[in-house]
Amino acid sequence: MHTAPRCDRTTAWAALQGHYQAHGRDFDLREAFARDPGRFDSLSFEAPGLFADLSKNHLDLATLKLLCELARECRLEQRRDALLAGEPFNHTEGRAVLHTALRAPKGTGPFSDEVHEVLTRMLNFVEEVRDTANSGIKHIVNIGIGGSDLGPQMVVPALDAFVHPGLTFHFVSNVDGHDIAPVLRRLKPAETLFIIASKTFTTQETMANAQVAKAWFLQHGGTDTRRHFVATTTNVKAAAEFGIDTTFGFWDWVGGRYSLWSAIGLPIALAIGAEHFRELLAGAHAMDRHFATTPVERNLPALLGLLDVWYRNFHRYTSRSVAPYHQGLKRLPAYLQQLEMESNGKCVDLAGEPLPYATSPVVWGEPGTNGQHAYFQMLHQGTDVIPVEFILVKQPTHPYADLHTKLLANGLAQAQALMLGKSSEQAAQEKAPTASADLDRQTLAKHRTFPGNRPSTTLLLDQLTPGSLGALIALYEHRVFTSGALWGINSFDQWGVELGKALCNDLLPRLSSGNVDGLDGSTAGLLKRVTA
Ligand code: F6P
Repeated sequence: MHTAPRCDRTTAWAALQGHYQAHGRDFDLREAFARDPGRFDSLSFEAPGLFADLSKNHLDLATLKLLCELARECRLEQRRDALLAGEPFNHTEGRAVLHTALRAPKGTGPFSDEVHEVLTRMLNFVEEVRDTANSGIKHIVNIGIGGSDLGPQMVVPALDAFVHPGLTFHFVSNVDGHDIAPVLRRLKPAETLFIIASKTFTTQETMANAQVAKAWFLQHGGTDTRRHFVATTTNVKAAAEFGIDTTFGFWDWVGGRYSLWSAIGLPIALAIGAEHFRELLAGAHAMDRHFATTPVERNLPALLGLLDVWYRNFHRYTSRSVAPYHQGLKRLPAYLQQLEMESNGKCVDLAGEPLPYATSPVVWGEPGTNGQHAYFQMLHQGTDVIPVEFILVKQPTHPYADLHTKLLANGLAQAQALMLGKSSEQAAQEKAPTASADLDRQTLAKHRTFPGNRPSTTLLLDQLTPGSLGALIALYEHRVFTSGALWGINSFDQWGVELGKALCNDLLPRLSSGNVDGLDGSTAGLLKRVTA
């Protein structure tokens, strides 16, 4: 295992604490721009497929310099190289972490032969199914959960402009029958391909839904399960036992939340076709090269990861809101929740010692402009400071130019409003036609004041294409690696999901028997009520 000093045991950490007290705590964005007309240029960065404006954040070049020193002291670059070389970074499970190998061009990455053998086989299958006149397939149902769901579920709508017009995609994840029931109601067995997506092929929700799908298929006249069910899994044996013999495999060195590049990406490939799927991989690979070769000072994923540490541990911001100004990215916040919070929601270091500092923030959000009409009120005038990440796309893939201009204006305006705010003097001078005539001007102005100085990052893509989306997702993966490496945690295990699974297995038979022996008072009381 690659060792390095934990962030809080470095000299840069102590220096950052001093810097925070002297300049960070009272940092004011408006003053920073007034002081430095070159701030936008010096704090904006290019990476493959995107441009990032970090200038509306609570930092300056001195902060960045110290954060880069922190990265060096924590041996970020050496850790990155070890990760990319396939060292067993997931030390609690003794596994390498090599999702980057899935998007490396043939002959260049670890396990290249295996990776490209499955990729070619999968993409050949994809082209057969996409020939809908011959395959007869009109509906693809992906049954999977967590990492076996969120990636495809996020990418397919994001790339809607590239999706096969004769195919409709459904994603069933929840063990709640309200998820699968409305999907099955609209299907015919002969027109449907089910993908059972599960790395382990043991996950309760996925196995239960797969059984429901198979029973439905047979009850509704389906005749050839072997043609209408395929599996994407590392557990080929279990898939065969289920009755599936078309299986696209992957490997234990692909983490669930990093798996959309593997066979788990089958629904994506079916949606956008082989060529575009290869472009998605190539976009991610370009970001991998950027991360692997660019000095930390200009390395965008590394800089964003460092900013996350600065905000979480020094400013103590507890969450980050993601606002994609592209409706296709509506599932990006949910995807990032798993990527970031399952990876970095940890409270012990690599040696198992409790951490004296905070790790993953809460990641949440909705597409703009919808979020503006819901929770942005709190971002502007609430008591917490929540950094916002705006994702803007220059060119739409629809013909409604006027709508797109309005969308862009909204995204830019929100970032501007968060930063500039509005003083009570400004508010007092303004007319407020909808305000109550019973209130005096000064009191009203207090309600209409915006503190401003609220930080945001803006990521700008030229267009949302397979290539730029691949780069964007890889950017987030490496950013999460960076903050996790600095925090000295294992970003690649997820023991926190185990306890609930085990307790569910204990409770399941009790729901039939009503036996509450040995349960805590609350669970026993609730169990009695749900079974009454
Ligand atoms: O919820 C835990 C988890 O293991 C995730 O990490 C994973 O993506 C998901 O369950 C699904 O697991 P599988 O692909 O093995 O069904």
